[in-house]
Amino acid sequence: MRSDANIAGPMTDPVPGPRTESMGEDVSRETPPPMDDTPIGRAAQLAVEALGRAGEGLPRPEQTRIMVVANQKGGVGKTTTTVNLAASLALHGGRVLVVDLDPQGNASTALGIDHHAEVPSIYDVLVDSRPLSEVVQPVPDVEGLFCAPATIDLAGAEIELVSLVARESRLQRAIQAYEQPLDYILIDCPPSLGLLTVNALVAGAEVLIPIQCEYYALEGLGQLLRNVDLVRGHLNPTLHVSTILLTMYDGRTRLASQVADEVRTHFGEEVLRTSIPRSVRISEAPSYGQTVLTYDPGSSGALSYLEAAREIALKGVGVSYDPTQAHIGAQSNPNMVEGIQ
Ligand SMILES: Nc1ncnc2c1ncn2[C@@H]1O[C@H](COP(=O)(O)OP(=O)(O)OP(=O)(O)O)[C@@H](O)[C@H]1O
Ligand SMILES: [Mg+2]
Repeated sequence: MRSDANIAGPMTDPVPGPRTESMGEDVSRETPPPMDDTPIGRAAQLAVEALGRAGEGLPRPEQTRIMVVANQKGGVGKTTTTVNLAASLALHGGRVLVVDLDPQGNASTALGIDHHAEVPSIYDVLVDSRPLSEVVQPVPDVEGLFCAPATIDLAGAEIELVSLVARESRLQRAIQAYEQPLDYILIDCPPSLGLLTVNALVAGAEVLIPIQCEYYALEGLGQLLRNVDLVRGHLNPTLHVSTILLTMYDGRTRLASQVADEVRTHFGEEVLRTSIPRSVRISEAPSYGQTVLTYDPGSSGALSYLEAAREIALKGVGVSYDPTQAHIGAQSNPNMVEGIQ
């Protein structure tokens, strides 16, 4: 595995066409659009802006950044964040691999990747030492984006791994042996702290924790952080929590801003300035086998993930992120960038 800055250039337009934010049936949970928003024209304009931004490209990491997307709490936005950030980083010009490490296979579904029982998958890599290159598939519609899918077999892997040699470091070995140049590997973890998640923590250098802006947001995080410490102490000295992303932020509720404040007090610099709004478009996209970036590129959800990706990329090369330079869509969304709320 190596990084090769010359391989991937800015991506071509993968987008089928803009849709409007206001077309969803269940709009009651949607973060309201900015006051000056006239839905159709605005969405089209934002799509163009988003694609303009994407075409610019971003600084690429010197080495492949391996990010473990983990939180043992269920339904906080791990998979949604993995696939949409990965697509955003690819649209920004990077080469990105998503490793689906959840037997539910939600990341594979959301990326439109075939993952029925017969498909070569991450299970074969972990349990049968199959090379990663034999299971990786390109993601349709997004150039530079790839996925190692999970099939239902993976449900048995937690048990099967127990008796195998080097059971905690099988994913790490597979990734190290993978020769394709990559800028990012994003690993989508299941909502547990078993051997699958441990394999991810051993393989990665960075932990990205999505936190849902709801009650009990921080509950249980202590256990994840202790596991990160344990893995760092015994198996992977480079491991650290690099990124916290606030998800499903609803600016209409006081609770959301209270949770955001609490998380920022607790974690500080690791918390991205960009947060992800609650968006119907984000939740609809997986049922079409798409990320929100291709499903509705002008939506607030798509723009917020593009912006989060930009922030992550800039932080990775030591450039401080300036929210006033966020693209127009992010600035005009009152929920997206802290300081503009
Ligand atoms: N920003 C958002 N706005 C609206 N819905 C969202 C948002 N982010 C995630 N969701 C929805 O919330 C649900 C849970 O999200 P997701 O599957 O990403 O969580 P998860 O942490 O991966 O869950 P699990 O622990 O089961 O793997 C999904 O139905 C998803 O579509
Ligand atoms: Mg998930």
